[in-house]
Amino acid sequence: MDGNGRWAHGKNLPRSEGHNQGTKTAKAIVEESRRLNIQYLTLYAFSRENWARPKEEVSFLFGLLTRFLKGELQTLVKHDIRLNILGDINDLPLTARKVIEHVCSKTKSNKSMTLNLALNYSGRFEIVRACRLILEQGLSADQIDEKKFSDYLYTADQPDPDLIIRTSGELRISNYLLYQSAYSEFYFTKTLWPDFTTGELHLALEDYASRQRRLGGVDPL
Ligand code: IPE
Ligand code: MG
Repeated sequence: MDGNGRWAHGKNLPRSEGHNQGTKTAKAIVEESRRLNIQYLTLYAFSRENWARPKEEVSFLFGLLTRFLKGELQTLVKHDIRLNILGDINDLPLTARKVIEHVCSKTKSNKSMTLNLALNYSGRFEIVRACRLILEQGLSADQIDEKKFSDYLYTADQPDPDLIIRTSGELRISNYLLYQSAYSEFYFTKTLWPDFTTGELHLALEDYASRQRRLGGVDPL
């Protein structure tokens, strides 16, 4: 979800307004994804690198996230959506952490869709963390293969992402789901996240549906 700051800048508004508008987009995309029966949706909300932002912006973002999750709990319950966090929430401000834990626990049995929020997330960190967990558990080298390794990622028990959408014209992955995205399809758009619509989500899905996924094999005839 990239481009909130540029969206605000283009309208002579403070960056916080871009983030406010970005949460409206997030709400619309979550609800449309659920309506489309998408089973897993992951939103990259805050990376480990994002701590480098001014502390006022960081605290605004966590305040916004806290208000957003409080406000959306009933919607998540009503639509049978489970909230799940990818990342280490222990470093987050206490109020944010408490609300996250509350919403996760209230929605943990929901089955229709998993909404992953990548928070304080880094793909490289996730891989290193998996190695540490494996070593701590004393597994031997011959017990590890790709599948076993993925059990130690934040996304254990989830399928790899089919499609990854990046907004705002940046053409890079920025430490996102590095292990899981090995065969993901990518959709890059210049649209800034606050301007991203359910209509463009449909375009991205149609684009995805028109692609041939060979997964290393040969072209089907
Ligand atoms: C993405 O928008 C939102 C978060 C990282 C929370 P940015 O804040 O990165 O917006 P730009 O890249 O400055 O436009
Ligand atoms: Mg950005």
